[in-house]
Amino acid sequence: MKVLGIMGSPRMKSNTDPLLDEALKGAQSQGAEVEKIIVDRLNIAPCREFYGCLRDGNCVIRDDMDAIYPKLLEADRIIVASPIFFYRLTSQIKALIDRCQALWARKYVLKRAPPDSGRKGAFIAVGATKGKRLFDGSKLTVQFFFQAIGVTYVDELFIRGVDKKGEIREHPTALSDAFELGKRLAQT
Ligand SMILES: Cc1cc2nc3c(=O)[nH]c(=O)nc-3n(C[C@H](O)[C@H](O)[C@H](O)COP(=O)(O)O)c2cc1C
Repeated sequence: MKVLGIMGSPRMKSNTDPLLDEALKGAQSQGAEVEKIIVDRLNIAPCREFYGCLRDGNCVIRDDMDAIYPKLLEADRIIVASPIFFYRLTSQIKALIDRCQALWARKYVLKRAPPDSGRKGAFIAVGATKGKRLFDGSKLTVQFFFQAIGVTYVDELFIRGVDKKGEIREHPTALSDAFELGKRLAQT
């Protein structure tokens, strides 16, 4: 089983990054093969609505997304991990998701269904405040992203009240909860 982790924070080894690492370790503990994409290190242009994808399901922009599309389609499990920026995912990860309009076009316009092999996904997010609806908007985005690429949203871990770089390490349960999420995801 291949588990792909998509790390959406621009801060390495801060809060989102260790959460995702723990989740991937949890998946690994179940025998999964894991890979982490650090989106901030990639060159991913935002969607420009050229809509070349409506013709053949391929984006006309040539950048690091070329290597990401096959990974998104081959993974058996996908974990999206992001800090909350203005009640949403970071722009880095949102650019990656928007460029998946090409995969949306394959599914809904060209009627070429994505691989349906019971692919599943989870969402991990962390924010500084404690607002009740802190994760609502981002969750909808991730759910719709998963739907477009043929992945079922099955699990989530939302951590409130964590702000400073690396503060997640002081949280009593977050890292072990992330490990357990990864484990569950690889078992289902
Ligand atoms: C541009 C920006 C916008 C943010 N917006 C929110 C927000 O809307 N709600 C919130 O609770 N925290 C917000 N935060 C705080 C981050 O979510 C928080 O610091 C988080 O722990 C960062 O995780 P990271 O260190 O893994 O990047 C924002 C931070 C930045 C830099």
